[in-house]
Amino acid sequence: MHSKSCLHTRKEGLRVIEERCAVIKTDVPGKKSRALLKKREKYVAFGVGCNIDIFIEEAKGALIKDMDGNVFIDFAAGIGVQNIGHCNDEVVNAINKQLDKYIHPCFHVIMYEPYIALAEKLAELTKGTFKRKVMFANSGAEAVENAIKIARRYTNKPGIISLECAFHGRTYMAMTITSKVKPYKFGFGPFSTDTYKIPTAYCYRCPLGCEYPHCGIACVEKLRSLLKSEMIPEMIGALIVEPVQGEGGFIVQPPEYLKALESICRENDIVLIVDEIQSGFARTGKMFAYQHFELEPDIITMAKSIAAGIPLSAVVGKAEIMDAPSPGQIGGTYGGSPLGCVAGLKVIEVIQKEDLIEKANNLGRIIKNRLLEMKEKYDCIGDVRGLGAMLGVEFVKDRKTKEPYAELVKDVINYAYKRGVIFLSAGIFNNVIRFLPPLVMTEEQANYGMDVLEEALEAYNLR
Ligand SMILES: Cc1ncc(COP(=O)(O)O)c(C=O)c1O
Repeated sequence: MHSKSCLHTRKEGLRVIEERCAVIKTDVPGKKSRALLKKREKYVAFGVGCNIDIFIEEAKGALIKDMDGNVFIDFAAGIGVQNIGHCNDEVVNAINKQLDKYIHPCFHVIMYEPYIALAEKLAELTKGTFKRKVMFANSGAEAVENAIKIARRYTNKPGIISLECAFHGRTYMAMTITSKVKPYKFGFGPFSTDTYKIPTAYCYRCPLGCEYPHCGIACVEKLRSLLKSEMIPEMIGALIVEPVQGEGGFIVQPPEYLKALESICRENDIVLIVDEIQSGFARTGKMFAYQHFELEPDIITMAKSIAAGIPLSAVVGKAEIMDAPSPGQIGGTYGGSPLGCVAGLKVIEVIQKEDLIEKANNLGRIIKNRLLEMKEKYDCIGDVRGLGAMLGVEFVKDRKTKEPYAELVKDVINYAYKRGVIFLSAGIFNNVIRFLPPLVMTEEQANYGMDVLEEALEAYNLR
């Protein structure tokens, strides 16, 4: 069985992993990784970014072993893909079982049961006052593209509103409605037309200079006025929002703001698309982050942790809206692959059976408490925020001016990596460290990661 070869079983024999969680035996990158880096430089396009220069051998739970035998604690989870942990035995078995039956008949040619079963599950998990229907695609960006196509077809209105600091993917429409110009958009224009940006409720850096909660959610008033001048509702088909902005800096929107966006959409026949690609599948301590805010999105986009690493994404929406396109207008050769669907079914089962929602809350509490303690000690921490186990810490050079401290983030990530901890950055100014640990990460592993973060900050302080 595949799982027998993974770290989980082996680590019983490696007490040092049990005790320290991370084991660095060589220089990192080690010899094997260095050899592959040379080949990578030769054969892989420069624009394919990479944060850390090791190559993986195997992974299990929250641990990654590289080709040189070093073990790392993973706070990135494949950018929020491994919520249930790397190589969960049940998911691996389900994929293996499916591999023995059929791999790709293409749903548009010959249908298969797992597609229907997962569609039913997702419709159930998101059911509210209306019935939902589902379509599957391959990536997050593709889910966003399809959500927008469907909303436009339904409303017959071309305009799309997105938020500042948003990230929705790298295809043309998804990139257009994304914020960070460098690196995501620079040099790739012209972009899609009929798109509009509105202020985000980034309260730590309020674009309107206000302070939550005494601001009366002035950003909503700003939007209402924009809707009278720049983008009248008759032109607008959809508004897309991440309930917790991911790449933009793990920005948690205040509930009043999200509820106001929902009301504005309802009042003006605008389809509300909630992008749960990074925040979904128990990450924030609810199955989907919008459930914290009692929203009822017209459309939800999902990807990443939906299938534990098998490429799969979903558009889940109000049946009437989802049925707007005619047969053949949406879909694609690989959309909703059997492997993705069986993995997805198992992911949901594991989340429920292992109560990963509760685990996300517990793990999030451990990490957040440590971050808040560090905030008391280190002035370079400007803000600690997040929901459940989707947490971010924003670094500044000065707490008053809030000048972003991107250099520090880079150095801390590099320090942690050398000590066997994988962190990721985020933020419109690259000055946020984001925490997306597999929800099965142990308390010991989480604390080890936080100890290393603190060591790095201490070392920086002593410079
Ligand atoms: C909120 C959000 N939307 C869309 C995407 C794009 O997903 P993909 O990279 O699978 O295209 C991402 C990826 O990070 C994301 O975080």
